[in-house]
Amino acid sequence: MDRKMTTTKEILFKPSKLGKLEASNKLAVAPMTRVSANEDGTVGPLMKEYYEGYADGGFGLIITEGLYTDKLFSQGYRKQPGISSVKQANSWRPIVESVQQKGAIIIAQLMHAGALSQYNPFANTAMAPSEVQPLGEQMPFYYGDGPYRLPRSLTTSDIKEVVEGFVFSSLLAKQAGFNGVEIHGANGYLLDQFLTQYTNLRTDEYGGDLVNRLRIFKEIIEAVRQSVGQDFIVGVRFSQKKVNDLDYEWPEGESAAETTFKLMRECGVDYIHTTEPVLSVPAFEGSASLASLAKRISGLPIIANGGVVEPQLAINVIGNGNADFVSIGKAALANQDWPNLVKRSEDTNMFDFAMLAPIADLENSKRYLKNM
Ligand SMILES: Cc1cc2nc3c(=O)[nH]c(=O)nc-3n(C[C@H](O)[C@H](O)[C@H](O)COP(=O)(O)O)c2cc1C
Repeated sequence: MDRKMTTTKEILFKPSKLGKLEASNKLAVAPMTRVSANEDGTVGPLMKEYYEGYADGGFGLIITEGLYTDKLFSQGYRKQPGISSVKQANSWRPIVESVQQKGAIIIAQLMHAGALSQYNPFANTAMAPSEVQPLGEQMPFYYGDGPYRLPRSLTTSDIKEVVEGFVFSSLLAKQAGFNGVEIHGANGYLLDQFLTQYTNLRTDEYGGDLVNRLRIFKEIIEAVRQSVGQDFIVGVRFSQKKVNDLDYEWPEGESAAETTFKLMRECGVDYIHTTEPVLSVPAFEGSASLASLAKRISGLPIIANGGVVEPQLAINVIGNGNADFVSIGKAALANQDWPNLVKRSEDTNMFDFAMLAPIADLENSKRYLKNM
C-alpha cells in the first residue's frame, strides 16, 4: 500500500527484462487485429507506418495483432495477416527492422481462430475441440455477419497439425527477425476453446479435467520452445472473458490459476500476458487479479492488460509488483504516442469506437484521426 502511494510515473519508464532481452520501458502495445493485410495474408506499407507509429510514440514492446498459423483452419478474418509461409513472414521484415531500429522489441502473436473463424479461404468449415455452436454472432467490424458456423471437431491428427502450424510459424517469425512469439491462448479462440469447459466436450486426453484441457498449450509451447531455442522469446496470453462471452470465469477458480500458471512455467515460457476488462479487479471472488496471481504463481515476467486509459492504473499494477509490463489496447489506438504523452504529462485523446467503423482497419482509423 505504502509503495502504491509513493509510486510515480517514472516507474513505467524503467527498463524491464523479457526473456534474454531488455525492453526500454514497461509499456507494451496490446495485440490488435486490424484486418488490413492483403488478401494473401501479406502486409504492406500502411502496416509499416502503423507499427512504426507505436515505436516512434515511445512503446518499448509491440505485440502484433494475431497472425494465423497455417493454411488449414486457423484463419479467422478476411484481411487478417498470416505467418504460414515464407512469403507472408518476409512481408513483415521491413516492419520488424524498422521498429527495432527505433528501439522497440516486436513479438508476433500467433493465433488460431478455431470455432470463431469468420472467413477462411483455405477451408469451408471451422474446426474446434467439439461441435458446439459458438455463443454470440460474428463481428461486423471484421467483415462478419450473422451467427458463427457450427464447427467440426478436430481429430487427434488434426490437433497434431495445429501444433505443427504453431511450430512452423514460430520458426518463420524467428527467420523474419521478430524477437519472439506470443501464443494466443485467450479471448475465445482455439486454445481458449480447449480450456473452456462448455466448448470442450472431448472425452480423450484433450478434454475433461483442467490438465487435459491444457494439454494442447503444453504441446505447443514445448514444441515451439524446442524449435526456436532459448534466445527467442516465447510468451502466452490468457483471459477468462471471450470476444463472444463477457461473463465466463474459470470454473475451478483460483485453483485453475495455480494449475495453469505453474504449468506454463514448467513448459518454459518467458512471460505470461493476462487480459481482463480491468487489469486490477479480482479474478475470482475475494482473490487477487489474474495478473497478480500469474505473478505470484509463476514468478515469470507478467504483462497485464485491460482498461488502462490514464497512467495511474498502470503505475499501481507495476508499483505493487503485480506485473512487469502493462499492455495498452484502445488507448494506444487513440494515442500511438501514449508513452511520450504521459512522459511529458500531456493530455491523451479518448478512444472512440467510431475509429473502428464500419471496419476496424487502418484506413478508417487514419480518416477518423485526421478529422479530429
Ligand atoms: C480492435 C481490436 C482488436 C483486437 N485484436 C486482438 C488480437 O488480435 N489478439 C488479442 O489477443 N487481443 C486482441 N484485442 C484485445 C486487446 O489486446 C485488449 O486485450 C483489449 O482491447 C483490452 O485492453 P484495453 O482496455 O487496453 O483496450 C483487440 C482489441 C481491439 C480493440
